[in-house]
Amino acid sequence: MEIIAIACDHGGYDLKEIIKKHYAGQYDFLDLGTNSPDSVDYPEYGQACAKAVKEGKAKRGIIICGTGIGISIAANRYPEIRAANCTDVTMARLTREHNDANILALGARLIGLEVAFDIIDTFMNTQFEGGRHALRIEKMCASI
Ligand code: RB5
Repeated sequence: MEIIAIACDHGGYDLKEIIKKHYAGQYDFLDLGTNSPDSVDYPEYGQACAKAVKEGKAKRGIIICGTGIGISIAANRYPEIRAANCTDVTMARLTREHNDANILALGARLIGLEVAFDIIDTFMNTQFEGGRHALRIEKMCASI
């Protein structure tokens, strides 16, 4: 079973638990917290997921906060990480095809449950197109 690193702040805690239950038997989750709805700081959890993916503990990750914005900004500070905050299925498809995104960010306060599941299914099952898109990804790391 594919291992997926998953992390959230308090804004994403309920959705993280629902996702783990919904995909049990399909994915193995490396749960990096948070483990309660108590208030925490999203950078710690974005960074934990980014490190797990960067170190190869999981090929892909899911990060969740209230908007998906703060936690994706935190994860994207690592050059190996391409975290995409998706609010619909088209974004999920295109960020896999064009950006080879390795972490999916979700905003638990912005999207419904069915939309979240559709986004996750699309993100996990769409292949990177490579070609000109691979060159652009190389440029992102080379130019800083
Ligand atoms: C926490 O209240 C909230 O700021 C956080 O979950 C996230 O939306 C930040 O970008």
